[in-house]
Amino acid sequence: MRHLITTDDLGREEIEALFADAESFLQKPPPKLLQNRLIITLFFENSTRTRSSFEIAAKKLGADVVHLDVAKSSTKKGETLYDTAANLNAMGPDAIIVRHAQSGTPEQISHHVDCAIFNAGDGAHAHPSQALLDLFTIRRHFGGDIEGKKIAIVGDIKNSRVANSNMRLLPRFGLKIRLVAPPHFMPKTDFPSTHRLEDVLDEVDIIMSLRTQTERHAYPIYASLKDYASDYCITGERMGDREILLLHPGPVHRNIDIDDEMLADPRCKVLEQVQNGVVVRMAALKKLILANG
Ligand code: NCD
Repeated sequence: MRHLITTDDLGREEIEALFADAESFLQKPPPKLLQNRLIITLFFENSTRTRSSFEIAAKKLGADVVHLDVAKSSTKKGETLYDTAANLNAMGPDAIIVRHAQSGTPEQISHHVDCAIFNAGDGAHAHPSQALLDLFTIRRHFGGDIEGKKIAIVGDIKNSRVANSNMRLLPRFGLKIRLVAPPHFMPKTDFPSTHRLEDVLDEVDIIMSLRTQTERHAYPIYASLKDYASDYCITGERMGDREILLLHPGPVHRNIDIDDEMLADPRCKVLEQVQNGVVVRMAALKKLILANG
């Protein structure tokens, strides 16, 4: 049984094939490859993009999608997560897409079901479909020529599952990572790192800005996010006329992570990431569900 818990679950050639599929889904209407397949979305944490992106992806391939409303589910009545998963599994889905505040939950659920589990974000651990869509967006932007390209990941890296997944995936495809964060947002790392954005601006080809993960902080770290912004906001003034591709997984804290000017700038591809997210998730659903038979 194949699952997508981390990007390590896919080999390099599988990712290349997945991107070829994603590209074809961008170019022409997709075939209904998942007709009569059932996909359940199970989100224990908020989501703006990821849930709708997975649901749209599933529907575009002809699958039936059911969302379990966790706020109203039996987990709230004391049922364990694993019993909830086993009960959903008994309804015969082809995949369950899981988001949970606790790292490791999707992986643990995968041992209690016989369908594909897609990790849609678990704590600060991993968010594989986001990293795949980020890589896909970077590859398209550079026409496939990404070996040796330098990317600065900026912000609350320590608490970000998006950063974590990208730090595993991007080096496999030849990208060179620089980490830029204040000390309390910097993980222990072997990647080159700095506390100053100005140190990397002249050397990087890509900036991935991150949202400050206030919901994962045990106590408020900044009195005000404005203090953070004064050092780390990606502004028009900081970027100047440098040809840097600007990414962000969303939701963006406007004028904290990226300013109004840069959000409207053609170098900022936040909405292209969202668009690519649908086709990359289509390709991932197709790959795993059809592989599982
Ligand atoms: C991210 C997440 O939930 O991990 N959002 C997303 O899925 N696009 C990033 C975030 O919440 O900051």
